[in-house]
Amino acid sequence: MTSVDILHNADAAVALLVAGQLCAIPTETVYGLAANASNARAVARVFEAKGRPSDHPLIVHVADISCVGEWIKELPEWAVVLVNAVWPGPLTVVGPRTASATDDITGGQDTVAVRVPAHPLALEVLKKLREHGVLGLVAPSANAFGQVSATTAEHVVEELGDYLNEHGDAILDGGPCAVGVESTIVLATSDQPIILRPGAITREDIERITGVQVAQGTAETPRVSGALASHYAPAAQVLLIDTQELATLPTIDQPRSAGLIALSHIPTPAGMTRLCAASSASEFAAQLYSTMRQADHQNLSVIYVVAPAGTGIEQAILDRLTRAATPAKE
Ligand code: TXA
Ligand code: MG
Repeated sequence: MTSVDILHNADAAVALLVAGQLCAIPTETVYGLAANASNARAVARVFEAKGRPSDHPLIVHVADISCVGEWIKELPEWAVVLVNAVWPGPLTVVGPRTASATDDITGGQDTVAVRVPAHPLALEVLKKLREHGVLGLVAPSANAFGQVSATTAEHVVEELGDYLNEHGDAILDGGPCAVGVESTIVLATSDQPIILRPGAITREDIERITGVQVAQGTAETPRVSGALASHYAPAAQVLLIDTQELATLPTIDQPRSAGLIALSHIPTPAGMTRLCAASSASEFAAQLYSTMRQADHQNLSVIYVVAPAGTGIEQAILDRLTRAATPAKE
């Protein structure tokens, strides 16, 4: 049995992180597996714990906007306006890196990703770390590479408990994450924003706040590991369908062990296990990863998902579901 240390206050997490250990921390989006961004050995262990390829860059989490200059050389005016309006919050900006943002953090790229998370415990940890001279934490989602992200401390135990326990690392328990999907990632290296990963801060939010149009197109290389075709995938097969298809699904085609994730007004066909009945898109997002885990716990073979349609957080939901529905390449 795993008996990884579960912490309940910031001070204990700060002590571990200062000592160069790893600590999973709660954020408003998903749990992150944190390490001192300036400690190369600790950063290397983050990759080891997750089984993550070393060329996939990490996000540096900082206490507030005043710490950004440590990592990013300069931001265009629109990005300064944006982070001032949104942080602390579910937004990551990618800008030209300083010498502090070493190759092990950026995967050798000339840019670095930075965000200020909104969870009170994460902020307390980051503020206290600054008093110890620690100016940022790398914190990828606290799941094994390619797996479903963790939105509770228990999920982190499921994903990484054995590794963390063996290495004297810990998990700071801050309850379930409010947003439930990873931060919006915006490339801030030119006069127009480019969204690299959709999240709770939407294209409309960015355009309204900055008064600048979001540019179409994404980066050519998979700079965002969540941009790999298959990611966030549970063991059960994920099938995206619409309400009509669900209602007309022939009983014969329904594997007995099928689950349904849909908004509450959509009825459950006979014989299916209801996994989620959120009443809004934001509730749907908050519950998405835990319902996928629930399907695996119940050994369901298929998860039917009716994704809410819309231009807000629905875009992030659809992005994660599409990748979860794509089988990993052998
Ligand atoms: O909400 C979040 O962002 C969560 C919480 C824990 O903060 N973190 C998170 O980290 O999702 P991770 O490592 O699972 O995803 C970070 C993404 C990766 O897909 C990575 O490729 C991308 O950020 N990224 C990091 N640095 C980048 C860069 N310089 N250019 C483009 N993408 C970058
Ligand atoms: Mg991730």
